[in-house]
Amino acid sequence: MKRFAVILAAGQGTRMKSKLYKVLHPILGRPMIQYVLEALAPSNVEKLVTIVGHGAEKVSEEVGNKSEFVIQEEQLGTAHAVIQAKDILSEENGTTIVVCGDTPLITKETFESLFKYHEQTASKATVLTTAFDDPTGYGRVIRNHDGDVSRIVEHKDANEEELTINEINTGTYCFDNKALFEALEKVDNDNAQGEYYLPDVIEILKKENEKISAYLMTDQEESIGINDRVALAEAEAIMKRRINKSHLQNGVTITDIENTYIGPNVEIEQDVIIYPGSIINGNTTIKSDAIIGPNSEINNSVIGEASIIKQSVIFDSKVGKQVNIGPFAHIRPETNIGNDVKIGNFVELKKSSLGNDTKVSHLTYLGDADIGENVNVGCGSITVNYDGVNKNTTTIESNAFIGCNSNLIAPVTIKEGAYIAAGSTINKDVPKESLAIARARQENKEGYASKITKKN
Ligand code: UD1
Ligand code: CA
Repeated sequence: MKRFAVILAAGQGTRMKSKLYKVLHPILGRPMIQYVLEALAPSNVEKLVTIVGHGAEKVSEEVGNKSEFVIQEEQLGTAHAVIQAKDILSEENGTTIVVCGDTPLITKETFESLFKYHEQTASKATVLTTAFDDPTGYGRVIRNHDGDVSRIVEHKDANEEELTINEINTGTYCFDNKALFEALEKVDNDNAQGEYYLPDVIEILKKENEKISAYLMTDQEESIGINDRVALAEAEAIMKRRINKSHLQNGVTITDIENTYIGPNVEIEQDVIIYPGSIINGNTTIKSDAIIGPNSEINNSVIGEASIIKQSVIFDSKVGKQVNIGPFAHIRPETNIGNDVKIGNFVELKKSSLGNDTKVSHLTYLGDADIGENVNVGCGSITVNYDGVNKNTTTIESNAFIGCNSNLIAPVTIKEGAYIAAGSTINKDVPKESLAIARARQENKEGYASKITKKN
């Protein structure tokens, strides 16, 4: 049986009160639509169509070639949204899953089980349902005396009795593809919202005596639809717990699971310890025995074995083994740090590489710098990398010693084993093993201090 998928993502997301398109709102640093795509991927659909609204170029940019796109010019309802995929899908034989782009917590296991259940029962439509203690806002599942699903009624259209029903429509369905597109033509907009409702397809097919099923999901949390920022916060909390739990089960210590935020694409090896206030996102890998936090932010980076990252920020960089960073260091993109390096407090690194055993212990800026092994960069040193027009490179070869408060005006090279006297402003290359002193000479005027402080 061939499988197809339609993701509905054209709604305005009015209730989010945001400039940002609803399905692009991030959960743990990742746009919510990516969770839907990832969960659908293992079900191997032949065609995947995402319905987007006018001006939603950002959605197609985000999703890229993972899906085809159709624009729904006017948002006339979920049934009207699915009809937009007609040219691509209506001639196909097989099963089509319809998923809302705003239900990012549904797992791959649930999608696959829904497909299987639908296929095994040979139903024309199968609705994914769940029971909520507070079903406010959701479509209710109406069953007949035999317990079969007969229709779905939207909250705004429901009568008092229907409002007491706890079983809700999650907004995810499997359909026989041909039956779906035929039934869609019969949906009208005669309801409280004047919209073409996709759930009406259920009632249409039922009246045609087709087999309708419901797949009741026991994990209610999965089916939260993100209509406003309250739901977004809930989804973030659920996803956070889900991800943190899987790391705990894999042998990572997280001392405070509520206050640790780890994105879905982060890999963490065994015996890593993560302290509270840490935010780890993007394609980050943390190797074994590393200690992260408290309060560290790491994005798209690799942290080597047994490295310690305290109260620091690291973006798009690589950190070797047994490196000690922080507190309060800022490692900006394209930085590559070797093994056994120390980066102390108030150090900023940008687009620089640092060899093994190098130490940059305090209050230093190194940008566009290529630094060898076992270099000691003293407190307050600065690579003067920007001349107002261009960024220039500073090279510091292995075993060099940069005295405190030195300015290295790039482009400049400090050769192997050279020694820069504290307070120097260096604008010429320094040869191997040499001492460079570039500062005003000190003069002592004996007795002068008492002369100027003496009262006349
Ligand atoms: C919908 C269901 C409801 C279900 C709930 C589950 C309908 C009529 N109701 O309600 O039964 O309980 O989801 O979360 O389907 N969309 C479009 N084009 C449109 C309208 C909507 O693409 O013209 C998209 C939205 O972007 C969204 C999805 O369809 O991703 C659902 O729309 P939304 O307005 O959020 O529907 P709900 O009121 O949540
Ligand atoms: Ca919704």
